[in-house]
Amino acid sequence: MSASASPSEHVAVNYDALMGPVMFEAYAKETATRIPPSRYLLEIGAGTGRVTAHLLSKIAEGGRLLATDLNDDMLEVAMAKIKDPRVIFAVADAHDLPYDDREFDNIVCQYVAMFFKDRGLAYSEFKRVLKPGGSLVMAVWGSTTQNPWGTVAQDAANHFLPEDQKIESMSKPFSYCDEIEVTADLYAAGFEKVSTDWVHKEFRTDKARDFMEGMFKGSLLTSALEERGHTDVEHMIDFAAQKFREKFGNPAVSTMSTLYITAR
Ligand SMILES: C[S@@+](CC[C@H](N)C(=O)[O-])C[C@H]1O[C@@H](n2cnc3c(N)ncnc32)[C@H](O)[C@@H]1O
Repeated sequence: MSASASPSEHVAVNYDALMGPVMFEAYAKETATRIPPSRYLLEIGAGTGRVTAHLLSKIAEGGRLLATDLNDDMLEVAMAKIKDPRVIFAVADAHDLPYDDREFDNIVCQYVAMFFKDRGLAYSEFKRVLKPGGSLVMAVWGSTTQNPWGTVAQDAANHFLPEDQKIESMSKPFSYCDEIEVTADLYAAGFEKVSTDWVHKEFRTDKARDFMEGMFKGSLLTSALEERGHTDVEHMIDFAAQKFREKFGNPAVSTMSTLYITAR
């Protein structure tokens, strides 16, 4: 990132550096193990390339990985890290994929489906661009009960906000994990065989303040606070880090749960 990076570029850098190692990296490795060897693999919502980096081992000789995301700033961070001629980065919206029917062997999509405005439309697009017999592998976070570290930053921010300005956007990533709902959505979009399983891991960090800084400066919380006029958030981060240590100890230890879905 250049010295004149925009605020949204800083958000992507903070997301990757401060949140990435704690909450995304272990599952990025897990997700990659589930992808069949592919000649042409599509990644939806590649973000800063956490999963992308691990997918390279799944690309067959002469194959390609098309890593897409809606957000150019996220892809910039990924591009700076991953320099491999097999990987192509492209801005694309999952709801309107600019690709041909039956183009990809497999599709991977980690922690993105919860943000889709129209899941039926996005899943129909996945089915359309997938070759017959190909797999869609998705990961979505479990609930906030299963991932109690996920909303501590939001709760801490809300401590400083009046009743009519409370923030709820940090609950969204943990809101689409009902196996019956996800499975039904995929069948409705034309998938013929859908299976699910849970993967539970230990959440652990000895850098509670860094993790809270990541949430305040590298997530949906950042824009929500800016919209409410809060740009200087250091005191909120200190408060959140204290709450985090009180709740999870130091080092902080908790549970992490992800629902995996494979659809054909
Ligand atoms: C929580 S991040 C996950 C990034 C990456 N998959 C990972 O696990 O590290 C969610 C990503 O989904 C992207 N995203 C959200 N809606 C999208 C859409 N409709 N189409 C493509 N990408 C989308 C966001 O820009 C963001 O980079």
